[in-house]
Amino acid sequence: MANFGFGSMIEKLKKSPKTIVFTEGTDPRILEASSRLLASTFLTPILIGKPDDVMSAAEEAGYNVRGARIIDPDNYEDIDKMVDMLVELRKDKGMDEAKARGLLKQANYFGTMLVKMGVADSLLGGATYSTADTVRPALQIIKTKPGYKSVSSCFILVRASASGDNEVLAFGDCAINIHPSAEEIAETGIYCAECGRIFGIDPKVAFLSFSTHGSAKDPDVDKMIEATKIAREMAPNLAIEGELQFDAAVSPAVARTKCPGSEVAGHANVFVFPDINAGNIGYKIAQRLGQFSAYGPILLGLNAPINDLSRGCNGMEVYSMAIITAALAEED
Ligand SMILES: CC(C)(COP(=O)(O)OP(=O)(O)OC[C@H]1O[C@@H](n2cnc3c(N)ncnc32)[C@H](O)[C@@H]1OP(=O)(O)O)[C@@H](O)C(=O)NCCC(=O)NCCS
Repeated sequence: MANFGFGSMIEKLKKSPKTIVFTEGTDPRILEASSRLLASTFLTPILIGKPDDVMSAAEEAGYNVRGARIIDPDNYEDIDKMVDMLVELRKDKGMDEAKARGLLKQANYFGTMLVKMGVADSLLGGATYSTADTVRPALQIIKTKPGYKSVSSCFILVRASASGDNEVLAFGDCAINIHPSAEEIAETGIYCAECGRIFGIDPKVAFLSFSTHGSAKDPDVDKMIEATKIAREMAPNLAIEGELQFDAAVSPAVARTKCPGSEVAGHANVFVFPDINAGNIGYKIAQRLGQFSAYGPILLGLNAPINDLSRGCNGMEVYSMAIITAALAEED
């Protein structure tokens, strides 16, 4: 596992152990991560599923998950309390008892309600659910943190360098907002920078575009100019530059030509994308062609620590994301 602050996250969890719900309790990658977590005591997994199914899946995959709490939504002792709470939370959206009972048969809604009720501290899903299906219950039930406009996300990209130091970058929003406004992009930049600090980044934030300082004209360019302006107003002490092309953001030589005198251009380490197309494609290029490991999406601005996995994840990535998710609970 890349070393970029995991040690301190584990130390933090050792001082204040947490629980984490895994919505896909029979998935072999979840069972691998759970068996690793159960070998220590700082983060206890709660697996959703039927106990017999979970135990036989674990046996088949060769993982020991004795000690995990397994909760079956069909036999949950507090289901009536959970139904009442969901109806109360969503009654203005037409939620009634029958609808709530139906939704709570789904592990994504059931798991999210375990966090809402305080039965679990955090949740990780998405090994088989899509991002939308993992995130939607959280947006509907957990909601946005006070003071935040919307929930967005950050990927932490890590690559070992020859010197032994890790190169650590933050990318956002590559996973949630399909058509973000300038205000939302500005907020994403600021909260990605904050998230990056937790992973040891001294943030230099680039608002990316296909234009550098007005080299092209288009409403999409204007949006990134506006996002940069709003972010500077919101966080006057943060190193911010925009709008920048990616080469001007990372190459000191290109920056000298396209954006001379900027402290960010040529040295950016927090990259804010104009929309999810650019962001999602961009982080996967870094991951697949640039040999970066990608951790995320880490949700920013959600009122409880819930995160999504990539469906292509492996057991080690589930383990890492579980630690990141639970440790971020401590940051609030
Ligand atoms: C995040 C996402 C699932 C929400 O979409 P949706 O289900 O259509 O959401 P809706 O517009 O119906 O909104 C559902 C609820 O979430 C809230 N919501 C939606 N997006 C939100 C955001 N970014 N921040 C905060 N709340 C949000 C809505 O206000 C609504 O709340 P309400 O029901 O209490 O009124 C959708 O934007 C999406 O699919 N994003 C892309 C996910 C993806 O495929 N990523 C790529 C792979 S990593």
